[in-house]
Amino acid sequence: MTDKKVTLTLQDNASVELDVMQGTLGQDVVDVRTLGNHGLFTFDPGFTSTASCESKITFIDGDEGILLHRGFPISELATHSNYLEVCYILLNGEAPTQAQFEEFRTTVTRHTMIHEQITRLFHGFRRDSHPMAVMCGVTGALAAFYHDSLDVNIERHREIAAFRLLSKMPTMAAMCYKYSIGQPFVYPRNDLSYAGNFLHMMFATPCEEYKVNPVLERAMDRILILHADHEQNASTSTVRTAGSSGANPFACIAAGIASLWGPAHGGANEATLRMLEEISTVEHIPEFVRRAKDKNDSFRLMGFGHRVYKNYDPRATVMRETCHEVLNELGMKDDLLEVAMELEHIALNDPYFIERKLYPNVDFYSGIILKAMGIPSSMFTVIFAMARTVGWIAHWKEMHDEGMKIARPRQLYTGYTERPFTSALKK
Ligand code: CMC
Repeated sequence: MTDKKVTLTLQDNASVELDVMQGTLGQDVVDVRTLGNHGLFTFDPGFTSTASCESKITFIDGDEGILLHRGFPISELATHSNYLEVCYILLNGEAPTQAQFEEFRTTVTRHTMIHEQITRLFHGFRRDSHPMAVMCGVTGALAAFYHDSLDVNIERHREIAAFRLLSKMPTMAAMCYKYSIGQPFVYPRNDLSYAGNFLHMMFATPCEEYKVNPVLERAMDRILILHADHEQNASTSTVRTAGSSGANPFACIAAGIASLWGPAHGGANEATLRMLEEISTVEHIPEFVRRAKDKNDSFRLMGFGHRVYKNYDPRATVMRETCHEVLNELGMKDDLLEVAMELEHIALNDPYFIERKLYPNVDFYSGIILKAMGIPSSMFTVIFAMARTVGWIAHWKEMHDEGMKIARPRQLYTGYTERPFTSALKK
C-alpha cells in the first residue's frame, strides 16, 4: 500500500477514497475491493485493466519488451540456464545451488514414469484425436491414480503433486504422439536431460537406437524455457480460478490445458504454421497482409500481436536465433522461414501494424523449429502445455501458500427484468 489515494466522485456528489497499491515494478493498482459497499462494481471484460492477484513470480513490461522470471531476464535464462533450473527458479523464487539443483533434478527424473494402467486410458481415444484433447483428458485423469496427493490444504501433498505433474508431462505428451501414429509407447530414460528424454520418447523405436542430437536438444530446452511462464495469461488465470475453489491440482492443470488450446493463446503456434503454409511463397504475402488489415475479413496474422507486449516479444528474438541454428544444423532450407522473415519485414514496415504496435510473438518462429525437428503441428500446443505446466503449478502453489479467496467475478446484467412465466407446453 502507498500513501496515494484515488477519489471517485459518485452521482450524488458523495465520494469514495480508494487506496493505491504499489508493486516492486509496474503500474500502481487501485484497490477497488470496498466499492461493492457503495453499490458499485467495476466493468472490465477481458481484464484489460484489472490485476486479479498479487504475484512474485513473473513480471512483464509490455511497452519495453521486458520479461523477468523472479527478476531474471528471459534472454539471460534462455542463454545461460536450462529448463529444469528455470523450473526451480519459478517454483522456489531463487536460483538453486548445485546441490539443490541435483536434488531437484533427481526428484523430477525419478517420477517420469506414469502408472501403467494409464496406458490403457490412451487406447480409449480414437487414433486421430487431436493430441490436446487427449492431454486434457489424461491430465485430469491423473487425479484418479494419485489419490495420496490430493489434499490441497497439506503443503507436502501440493509439493508431491507439483513434482508428479512436472515429471510426467513429457511422458504423456510423447505418448499422445506415439499413440496417434500407432507406434509403441517409449519409456523415459533417466540418464537424459528433460528435453533430451522428451525427444527420445518422441522418436525412439524398439527397432533401432535413437541418439539425441545436442543442437536439437538445446533448441527444445530453449523452447521449454521460453514458454515456461507468462504471468496472468488466460490459461494461468484459468488454473488460478479452478484452484481457487480448492479443486485438485490435476483438475486445475487440465483446465489450464483446455484454455491454452484456443488459437488466440497456445493454439497460435499451430495456426501460425498453417498460415505460413497457406501463404506458401513470398509473392502471396501482400494478399494476406491486406486480408489481415480488412475489418470485414476475420483473418489475422497468426503469431503477431499480444495483449501485453506493445513492443517486440523478447521471446521471439531468441526463438528466431534458435530457428536459424536448428535449420543450419539439419542442413535444411525451409521456404516457410523465408516467408516468415519477409512477412515480418513487410508487417513491421506497414502503418497498420506500426500504429497498433503489433509485433511477432513467441509463436511466430517456434512452429518452423518444431516442424524442422520432425514434430507434427498438432503436437505444437501440447509442447507449449508441457512447458507451461511449471508456470501453472508455480501460480497454483503461490495462491495456496499465500491464502486465497474463491474467484467469483460479478457481472453487468443486461437480460430481461422480472416477468411472469407461462408455459407453452401441453399439460
Ligand atoms: N493481425 C491483424 N490485426 C491484429 C492482430 C493480428 N494478429 N492482432 C491484433 N490486431 C488488431 C485488431 O484487429 C485491433 O485492431 P482495431 O484496433 O483496428 O480494431 C487491434 O489490433 C487490437 O487488437 P485486439 O484484438 O483488441 O488485441 P487483444 O489484446 O485483445 O488481442 C491477441 C491479442 C494475441 C489475441 C491478438 O493480437 C491476436 O489474435 N493475435 C493472433 C493470435 C496469436 O498470435 N496469439 C498468440 C499470443 S502469444 C502466445 C500466448 O501468450 O498465448
